Amino acid sequence: MTQQTTRIPISSIILDEDIYPRKGIDHRRVGIFAENIRDGFKFEPVEVELVPDKSGRYRLLDGAHRWSAYKSTGVSETEAIIKNLDGNDPLLYAAKKAIGPIQLTEDEARNTARRAYTRNSSLSSADIGKAIGRARRTVDSYIADLKAATRMGMDIKIFRMNHLGIPQDRIAKRLGVNQASIHNHLLKMATLPNLINADLERGFTVAQVAEKHNWTEPMVWSLALKDKEDLERFKELGWGLRTWDQWEWNDCDKRFGDDWPGRIPAQLIAHILFYFSKQNDLILDPMAGGGVTPDTCLALSRRCWAFDMTDRPETRPEIEPYTWTLSSDQQLSWPVTSKEKADLIIFDPPYFDKKAADYDRKSISALPKKEYLEFFEAFFALLRLNAKKTTRLAFINADWRDFQSKPAAEESGKGAILIDDYLRILNKTGWKHTHIIQAPMSAQRFSAVVVSAMQKKRILGVISRYVIILKQ
Ligand SMILES: C[S@@+](CC[C@H](N)C(=O)[O-])C[C@H]1O[C@@H](n2cnc3c(N)ncnc32)[C@H](O)[C@@H]1O
Repeated sequence: MTQQTTRIPISSIILDEDIYPRKGIDHRRVGIFAENIRDGFKFEPVEVELVPDKSGRYRLLDGAHRWSAYKSTGVSETEAIIKNLDGNDPLLYAAKKAIGPIQLTEDEARNTARRAYTRNSSLSSADIGKAIGRARRTVDSYIADLKAATRMGMDIKIFRMNHLGIPQDRIAKRLGVNQASIHNHLLKMATLPNLINADLERGFTVAQVAEKHNWTEPMVWSLALKDKEDLERFKELGWGLRTWDQWEWNDCDKRFGDDWPGRIPAQLIAHILFYFSKQNDLILDPMAGGGVTPDTCLALSRRCWAFDMTDRPETRPEIEPYTWTLSSDQQLSWPVTSKEKADLIIFDPPYFDKKAADYDRKSISALPKKEYLEFFEAFFALLRLNAKKTTRLAFINADWRDFQSKPAAEESGKGAILIDDYLRILNKTGWKHTHIIQAPMSAQRFSAVVVSAMQKKRILGVISRYVIILKQ
């Protein structure tokens, strides 16, 4: 088959090391090619593809030595075949071309196989072998450790999602694997914790074991605390239990949840779980952010379905991506078809526009006040539709006062959204409150300079935050 060739400038071609299968250019070979060029010898065209995101630039797929010889002899243009690889791996294509004249060395073959597998773990050893001129079993030996690490990554993700009670069809969809293979992974789950448990029994700390096995701390806690009562779990986690309806902490427990704008302390979630749910209950967090709810659920042995508009499949597979959006007729839809309904819903939405700059532009924090409150009305109604008679709702929010640089006595209250605005909407949509718990935010994040400026101007800041517990 003849292929279309085009003349392109040598200066528009680059050698991209990411897709070059050899250790380096063989300068002796380049020297021979240069001599051939001076003698008037015509070479086969080089093969290139367009460099992604750089128009008019090409990267070599085949012909690195010819290209080097052209450069060294001052040739300005060459015949080239411009390939479109249609998603095939350019490194493996380049390797296949390279082994035409000279086989890859052992080092080059191993290195290319490992790089190709790291870029795309769905490549089979047979496919890699064909490209680099090695048997499938040889490739297996090159990439055995990488395969094990990928498999372990998948096992850990499935273990975590399964532990949180996410149904198998949703785990399969989320991880992009078929349900039968989830089933096979789950069969191994019984033995997966053995190594972790063995190290815990030997007296290693949860943090040490998590580090050693590349598990997250909350997952190791879920094993370390297995079969324990809630109170014992609080003790082992170092969380003093609050007996009264004022819950205050100076800091978030860094072991649970990610560093996230608007992160709440795991201790706060743990108290909601302690008082308003029991082990194995299903908890729903519709705007889960940094994942503090699923992490705390692992430690306290609750199941948890979590959603957020921000998708982080690698680090937070258990937070399923979903954006709650009001349709033109002010309707919202439910993200899953599963019939099971939550025992407890923990809802910690953006506090109006407080962190608008940190969240996605489709976040409800970007809505004007009227639309923001309309969203809540539709959302609380939707929660009620998808709740059972006994479902509790824990709604976390704070007063939002429009007091930028204003002394307290001059605040008009016009732009404000206060906690009783939410209560009104909650009651209107059929939710009745049973408890209003004070859970103030820490004031430690304010610098002495800011505090002193506020005091001079008689500005009254907000650190009050409430957990409102409701039922139908
Ligand atoms: C206050 S944060 C939750 C923080 C979380 N409790 C934590 O401690 O990490 C609010 C979350 O709501 C999410 N969010 C805002 N609007 C959303 C929408 N329309 N649909 C889904 N998630 C949304 C944001 O991405 C953000 O992560």
